Amino acid sequence: MEPENSIREAIRDTYSKIATRTPGVCGCSCCSNTEIEGSNEAESLRAGCGHPVNEANIKPGEVVLDLGSGAGADAFQAAKLVGPTGKVIGIDATPEMIWKARDLASKQALENVEFRLGEVEHLPVERDSIDLAVSNCVLNLLPDKLMGFQEIFRVLKSGGRIRISDLVTSNPVPRSKVRAESWAACVGGAVPETEYLQLLKQAGFEDVQAVNEEACGNECCSGQSSEIRSVAISGIKRQVSR
Ligand SMILES: C[S@@+](CC[C@H](N)C(=O)[O-])C[C@H]1O[C@@H](n2cnc3c(N)ncnc32)[C@H](O)[C@@H]1O
Repeated sequence: MEPENSIREAIRDTYSKIATRTPGVCGCSCCSNTEIEGSNEAESLRAGCGHPVNEANIKPGEVVLDLGSGAGADAFQAAKLVGPTGKVIGIDATPEMIWKARDLASKQALENVEFRLGEVEHLPVERDSIDLAVSNCVLNLLPDKLMGFQEIFRVLKSGGRIRISDLVTSNPVPRSKVRAESWAACVGGAVPETEYLQLLKQAGFEDVQAVNEEACGNECCSGQSSEIRSVAISGIKRQVSR
């Protein structure tokens, strides 16, 4: 396998180009390079593989964390659902994505959403502070998935939940053959569903479940290996009785 820093560099390079609309660059899914102004610009820059916010049962007043928030489409959707008494924090490791998301938030005058530069494996978020963590096609990219899952567990409140859309594979690429570019395209880092769920349980999550994500099948996964599919994953951090 290529060194971890080469993988992280390839990820930043790929997603900075997507954020700045460099033609012909695709990440986890092929995205539009069409210039669209205004609030629809975030939608046009979506690079996810599902719709985690739709299924997350978000309530007004909740604090939502979007892991690998990209240009902010899911965070903006969640911000409307949590309302003025709630808050959404988007985290992304690519500076250009953070700048784009901040710009789009200010154009929409959204005051209940903020974007922080950082890695899922080292979340710049206080422990026990989040009601719901969502993520859309990001966690397959983590070189150390268990470390990322443990960080998510740390920042969730007791009783908090996760709703993740992500790619899994039934035929993982042997580690010795993985190239950084294929990792950045969400293929090289994808693991089997059973391994993914096991790592979440190892990090402390309970009631961990996965169902196939219908959103992925046509354009979302086109060009990817047929062994790759999108799943919708849920789980909870059990409530601690005091
Ligand atoms: C496939 S895109 C998905 C973006 C967004 N969730 C969406 O649906 O449009 C993956 C995003 O994850 C970010 N990313 C990759 N590795 C990360 C990490 N370790 N920590 C935080 N963000 C990461 C990338 O910069 C990129 O913006």
